[in-house]
Amino acid sequence: MTVSRGTVIITGATRGIGRATVDAILGRGGKVVAIARGGEALSALEASVPDRIRAVAADLEDVASVPDAAKRAIDAFGSVDGLVNCAGIARYEPVGTIGLQSIEAQLRVNLIAPLLFSQAVAEHLRGRGGAIVNVSSTLSEHVAQNTAVYAATKAALNTITKGLALELAPAGVRVNAVLPGGVDTDMLRIPRLRPGESLSAAEIEQRVESQLESLAALHPLGRLGKPEEVAAVIISLLDQTWQTGSLVTIDGGLSVA
Ligand SMILES: NC(=O)c1ccc[n+]([C@@H]2O[C@H](COP(=O)([O-])OP(=O)(O)OC[C@H]3O[C@@H](n4cnc5c(N)ncnc54)[C@H](OP(=O)(O)O)[C@@H]3O)[C@@H](O)[C@H]2O)c1
Repeated sequence: MTVSRGTVIITGATRGIGRATVDAILGRGGKVVAIARGGEALSALEASVPDRIRAVAADLEDVASVPDAAKRAIDAFGSVDGLVNCAGIARYEPVGTIGLQSIEAQLRVNLIAPLLFSQAVAEHLRGRGGAIVNVSSTLSEHVAQNTAVYAATKAALNTITKGLALELAPAGVRVNAVLPGGVDTDMLRIPRLRPGESLSAAEIEQRVESQLESLAALHPLGRLGKPEEVAAVIISLLDQTWQTGSLVTIDGGLSVA
């Protein structure tokens, strides 16, 4: 059986790329343990296919709680075949405005939580042909304005991906990362304001539209990616039996522009 038709734990499962990955796994007949901070979106997701989705509420910024969250996720169906570390946060801040709280939050959610989650789940993937996919970013290799911290967390995640791939290979556990370019999700709809700038609701809407347009124009294929396009690569990485330690880019040509 391929990993994507088994039981897969997905963090950041309620929205964007994580949600599209949930749908792809369900479409293939697999089961999902969905992780996000909780609330209506997570309960609704579980209720949508109760026999094949279990929800585990966890705030991954609280890294001390990650081992317990991982245990609850592993216990949810009693076995696990794959893990997708998809939850992530991005703060767009020019140098000079970057605060300690922001650095720590991005490190916790984007790097420490995926590492602790992988470590806890890896033990249960041994000998099952299991797989881990980390959701990184093209920014990990080509930093852009105002993304130094976010890009650094993703670059470190790439290194963690390779380190775990090396150490877990003897146990038959594969570890890969996907590096998306700009994907049309809530993450890109956060208005990027200058320090001290305050805008009306209409101006914010306009700012977000122009942000999306200028970002889309950077991609040679002329548009942002769709979450389901990235999910298709995640499924492939879960299932490719001779692929480990890879950083796989899907970015509409952004990296070669
Ligand atoms: N969109 C892009 O252009 C893009 C490009 C490259 C890489 N990525 C990466 O792709 C991944 C998914 O991004 P996305 O665009 O799909 O993001 P998104 O639409 O903003 O969704 C983020 C997901 O992460 C969860 N999440 C956020 N903070 C969390 C926390 N502290 N604890 C637990 N869950 C948390 C959210 O759930 P709740 O809010 O319900 O908790 C949500 O399900 C991220 O790692 C991101 O860095 C995105």
